[in-house]
Amino acid sequence: MKITVSLIKADVGGLAGHSRVHPQLKDEAKLVLEHAKNQSKIIDYHVTSCGDDLELIMTHKKGVDSEIVHGLAWEAFLKATEMAKKLKLYGAGQDLLKDSFSGNLKGMGPGVAELEFEERKSEPLAAFMMDKTEPGAFNLPIFKIFADPFNTPGLVIDPNMHDGFVFEIWDVINHKKVFLKTPEETYDILALIGSKTRYVIKRVFPSTKNEMGKEAVAVVSTDILHEIAGKYVGKDDPVAMVRAQAGLPAMGEILEAFSFPHLVSGWMRGSHNGPMMPVSVTDATPSRFDGPPRVIGLGFQLAEGKLVGPADLLGDKAFDGARQLALQVADYIRRNGPFEPHRLPEPEMEYTTLPSIQKKLQSRMVDL
Ligand code: F6R
Ligand code: MG
Ligand code: MG
Repeated sequence: MKITVSLIKADVGGLAGHSRVHPQLKDEAKLVLEHAKNQSKIIDYHVTSCGDDLELIMTHKKGVDSEIVHGLAWEAFLKATEMAKKLKLYGAGQDLLKDSFSGNLKGMGPGVAELEFEERKSEPLAAFMMDKTEPGAFNLPIFKIFADPFNTPGLVIDPNMHDGFVFEIWDVINHKKVFLKTPEETYDILALIGSKTRYVIKRVFPSTKNEMGKEAVAVVSTDILHEIAGKYVGKDDPVAMVRAQAGLPAMGEILEAFSFPHLVSGWMRGSHNGPMMPVSVTDATPSRFDGPPRVIGLGFQLAEGKLVGPADLLGDKAFDGARQLALQVADYIRRNGPFEPHRLPEPEMEYTTLPSIQKKLQSRMVDL
């Protein structure tokens, strides 16, 4: 049976600035999705939040880019926005960029990651959600999961994974994509995705020698960046999904990639580098300096499309060390104040006063 899992998110208002989602916003979204489930439009759903982002996970048989499923998400975000406006939450409705829904969420503001696949005998799936960062923040962990044998020993010792994986990489500035295969093209992949603002991993596919077939096994949301090619439009608070086990990376290999709080851009005013801290769902509440950036992971088993779970994967004690390190890195990097590389380089900043300062000082600028 072909199942589609749709993970769709939007920031429609924050409780006390950009810190978290008010529970009543989640209740509004649940009402919409519960009704849709009762009408058999979707099989199942789970509503959660990461920072100020409202996250909807839906399962159904309608394939990716379904007008019905995207429309449901839009409706849920609208209802949540109504509540956010009533409560005067901060930035109410900020990610709903268009006035009306026209069949697909592309370019409308919300972030979308969808996977369609034949549900296996047992289907473990991880959904990851980040706040206060950009889609390229997933480049490092997704690369480690599917291409780094020091992270994923299965690449060496599982015959099904030994031939590697195919990475679909998007150039979000020039609006192009390329498919590159590991292990042969590993250095080419790294050459691109190390520039994480420009090149982002969109999907990962099994190699032709893997018994998993052709379906994507991982996907990352890249929405706003994708839509406005040629122009940098800022942070996108991305989400991703990864299928696990039996010829794919084990759940533990997937999670291992989040045991290192790598540096990402985002954080305060979308204009600072900082550590990506893995946290439990209850700790997905950016605070200090509007952060540090956070990632949560929810584990599910699919049963005929039903979402069994979730398991709060990154809440586990095994990530305490990564959290401690992230906090140390936060202390260290914060002391750099308004200096690069804590503050992002000019073209990547979301807020800037530099042009007006340059203009103001123009007449006082003399030749060296
Ligand atoms: C980062 C973020 C926040 C805001 C900051 C200023 O992605 O959303 O750090 O940029 O709180 O917000 P405003 O300009 O709305 O006061
Ligand atoms: Mg916000
Ligand atoms: Mg956010």
